[in-house]
Amino acid sequence: MGGIAGLAALAQVPLAHGALAAPRPPSGGYPFSLGVASGDPSPDGFVLWTRLAPDPLAAHGGGMRPQPVAVEWKVATDEAMTKVVRQGTVAALPELAHSVHVEPTGLRPDREYWYQFRYGADLSPVGRTRTTPAPGTRVSSMSFAFASCQNWSNGYYPAYRHLAGEDIDLVVHLGDYVYEGGIPADGGYRRTPVPATLSEQCRTLDRWRLQYALYKTDPDLQLAHARFPWIVTWDDHEVVNDYAGEESQYAGSIKELRAAAYQAFYEHQPLRRASIPQTDEMRLYRRLGYGDLAEFNVLDGRQYRSVPPCGWGEAPACAAGYDPSVTMLGRRQESWLLDGLAASGARWNVLANNVMMGRLDHDGPSGDILWHDAWDGFPAARNRLTDHLAQAEVSNPVIITGDWHSTFVNDIKRDFDRPDSPVVATEFVGTSISSNGDGEVYGPYYGPMIQYNPHIRFFDGDRRGYVRCTLDRGQWRTDLRMVTTVSRSDAPAYTFASFAVEDGTPGAHQA
Ligand SMILES: [Fe+2]
Repeated sequence: MGGIAGLAALAQVPLAHGALAAPRPPSGGYPFSLGVASGDPSPDGFVLWTRLAPDPLAAHGGGMRPQPVAVEWKVATDEAMTKVVRQGTVAALPELAHSVHVEPTGLRPDREYWYQFRYGADLSPVGRTRTTPAPGTRVSSMSFAFASCQNWSNGYYPAYRHLAGEDIDLVVHLGDYVYEGGIPADGGYRRTPVPATLSEQCRTLDRWRLQYALYKTDPDLQLAHARFPWIVTWDDHEVVNDYAGEESQYAGSIKELRAAAYQAFYEHQPLRRASIPQTDEMRLYRRLGYGDLAEFNVLDGRQYRSVPPCGWGEAPACAAGYDPSVTMLGRRQESWLLDGLAASGARWNVLANNVMMGRLDHDGPSGDILWHDAWDGFPAARNRLTDHLAQAEVSNPVIITGDWHSTFVNDIKRDFDRPDSPVVATEFVGTSISSNGDGEVYGPYYGPMIQYNPHIRFFDGDRRGYVRCTLDRGQWRTDLRMVTTVSRSDAPAYTFASFAVEDGTPGAHQA
């Protein structure tokens, strides 16, 4: 292993205390300014994350000197951190922005744990997390929330403040965790002023690190991370708007740009070793089980997708979209997904998906305009998936999606070109945490199109929030949790609408 992979492997090696330079007091600030996080829970462990950044918006290095330092970590069965069951010391390397990714193992399934880091004299906040039930264990219920699209300049994160107060098992993030754009000096929409170092668009690793640092200073985001294990994927804005594979309509070939962006994503998320960036790929797609009740297929809809065959963005449908070579997930991920779905014994099979799978016919009989950045641009790939859901008799496929800054509840048809074809899955598209800000934004534009799409059971384009899902053996319930405004971090939340999917019957009804 060379490069980043080698360094990251080194960072995983447990260190004898004092093996590295003793941490000197850095430039004065608290080193855990970006909070703590846990992720990818399994029956016997999870990933613990933090990044040392005593001066998080400093132009380079977050206020750390460019040398490796030792960070201690602990896992306990109590919030006071007195009953410690695992502990160790790891290296935080400058090559990985002094981020830390620890994977404790050998813990008990379906249990709550607490964790904490120490650097020098400073202790991190205590995070709470939990393991998942053992494979095949009969599980009567579970709940989770999903979120996406948190443009910092567009508003505060009251949605995360409320999400942090939920009684749920985990959080799924579906992408647009950060946006690539420069931050205006006044911080944007009613946010606080930021240093001029943030005014440029993100193109380099250093600039990306600043962007993640800025976002992660948000106290409500930190609260939500510290409270639950997260399962994260990305969408386009973690690199550049609407990109496909190594191409962008705005930036051309993005190979180098993408490598820097992917590394920064790894550095700032609670991801396992398997996601350490390699030369040609960063493996993000993966599968997590929750006893016999649910399986989460976490999809990467950006890294391997074809350039949209009918054109970028809003464009007419075309025959090239049906060419067998068209792919959204890439051949390897697609086979992995289809094989896994066929083999799954879970009652609810969740696809954590980036862009909308349901069709949105923009103009009905008068034309054939679609949005080609979503699955509508890749009908051959969508048909392979929907055919498989039917043929393999996959149990209760439910697709959870981000991207659109809008809510959609969709029946997924086996073939959207044949309106009489059966419903094979249910899709919930959640709105944004903050992106698009307050006010009527997408309702006036997309609202009039809904009439051409009878498979769309519900649409709202003008609210911000997150989605809470509660699963038991007979029913999946979805509650749309909205906030009244993103102009304040303490805005109230309310349940805007609720839906249910019955076991064995694809398609949601209002509950
Ligand atoms: Fe977005």
